[in-house]
Amino acid sequence: MGLELSIIVIDLLFFILSGARIAMADGVYNVKDYGAAGDGQTDNTKAFETAWSAACAVQGKATIVIPEGAYLLGPTIFKGPCKGIMVMQVKGQLLASTHLEAYKQYWLHFQYTNGLVISGGGRFNGQGASAWPYNQCKKTNDCKPLPMNLVFSFVTNATIKSISSIDSKFFHIHVFESRNIIFDSIKISAPQDSPNTDGIHIADSTNIQVVNSVIGTGDDCISIGPGCTNLTIFNVLCGPGHGISVGSLGKNAGEKDVIGLNVSYCNLTGTTNGLRIKTLQSSPSRLKATDFLFEHIIMNNVYNPIIINQNYCPSANCPKKDPSLVKIKNIKYRNIMGTFLSPVAYNLVCSEAAPCEGVELSDISLKYNGNEKQAKNASICVHVYGSSNGNVKPDPCI
Ligand SMILES: *[C@@H]1O[C@H](CO)[C@@H](O)[C@H](O)[C@H]1NC(C)=O
Ligand SMILES: *[C@@H]1O[C@H](CO)[C@@H](O)[C@H](O)[C@H]1NC(C)=O
Ligand SMILES: *[C@@H]1O[C@H](CO)[C@@H](O)[C@H](O)[C@H]1NC(C)=O
Ligand SMILES: *[C@@H]1O[C@H](CO)[C@@H](O)[C@H](O)[C@H]1NC(C)=O
Ligand SMILES: *[C@@H]1O[C@H](CO)[C@@H](O)[C@H](O)[C@H]1NC(C)=O
Repeated sequence: MGLELSIIVIDLLFFILSGARIAMADGVYNVKDYGAAGDGQTDNTKAFETAWSAACAVQGKATIVIPEGAYLLGPTIFKGPCKGIMVMQVKGQLLASTHLEAYKQYWLHFQYTNGLVISGGGRFNGQGASAWPYNQCKKTNDCKPLPMNLVFSFVTNATIKSISSIDSKFFHIHVFESRNIIFDSIKISAPQDSPNTDGIHIADSTNIQVVNSVIGTGDDCISIGPGCTNLTIFNVLCGPGHGISVGSLGKNAGEKDVIGLNVSYCNLTGTTNGLRIKTLQSSPSRLKATDFLFEHIIMNNVYNPIIINQNYCPSANCPKKDPSLVKIKNIKYRNIMGTFLSPVAYNLVCSEAAPCEGVELSDISLKYNGNEKQAKNASICVHVYGSSNGNVKPDPCI
């Protein structure tokens, strides 16, 4: 009897303890409880990593809270796999340390997590101004990249919402080998003349959406590298910057196809390019870039509104000049309105070795607003096959 009672008591204790464990699972992990200072001076790297590890070890939903304050952080990795869903609620401002020698290629790196939410209105400030003079990437192809603000690699099922990224030292956000991520209501800003401060760069990823966002930087607002499938860009305001870009493609060996891109309801203001596809000559890889739809786009004083460049040369010297082996196919431009500044509205220069096919220009109304003498022919078509439909102004060459 006594034994049975004690077994019941133990069972009961176990029940209470495991109940408590389940209750704790939807836990809150305030970085301040892990030693973060938030005074803008003290390094908080350790505190953030410890809070992440604690949250990562529990099942259910773990919320890491970053309260108001300025948190200085060196390179920090938030690594999974985690037991449950990770939520990072950022109210304060995160400041990147300016000691360049401490960095590899990232400031904050989210890796191997399935189920991640970052939100809260907080700011990620890369403090890039002191690093930008060390950027060598305009001079050489083999430059050592400066650190990127936020890197997501091998991340699945994530929502990144209502945060800002400011003055990254290099790309602001880099998505790599990831799936099912939505970037919603993101604000990205860096000066117009800051080098390689691309807003969001996506490579080797599937089902990535960028929606309802405002991006103004010194390079591409959004750039899409090789190996991407099914991307959506919707309601993005871009400018200043270099526009929305696919490429450069064909730079390295083993690059995979880019298939399925839907860019709609975007507004490009004062950008050097609008919608651009660029591939390098003498590509060591042979790949496809197919099934892109660009529709309902406003161009507001964009220099090159619609451009395909298969002779792209990113640095001062591109020695070999063999035609690009990237095949561009089924690219639709529909319902594009606004103003442009260069003499050429459609600059479609494709590869002799792999001519563009299925390029469609439909319902386009672009008005020249530049200072140069307006070209008689605002359309350049080289090795390009396709069609134009509806009312297309200026006159198209396909
Ligand atoms: C992501 O979520 C989907 C749908 O909820 C699920 O089917 C998939 O397994 C998740 N991804 C991973 C890597 O678990
Ligand atoms: C493409 O992406 C959208 C949005 O992420 C998603 O709803 C859709 O299911 C995806 N399609 C495929 C074939 O994965
Ligand atoms: C492109 O995206 C828009 C907005 O999400 C959507 O309305 C439209 O149906 C999509 N088109 C295609 C072909 O996926
Ligand atoms: C595009 O954005 C610019 C700059 O914010 C704004 O002035 C313009 O009204 C916008 N155009 C449309 C049609 O939304
Ligand atoms: C404009 O130039 C293209 C070649 O880039 C040519 O095919 C087209 O006929 C020209 N259009 C006019 C109206 O001259």
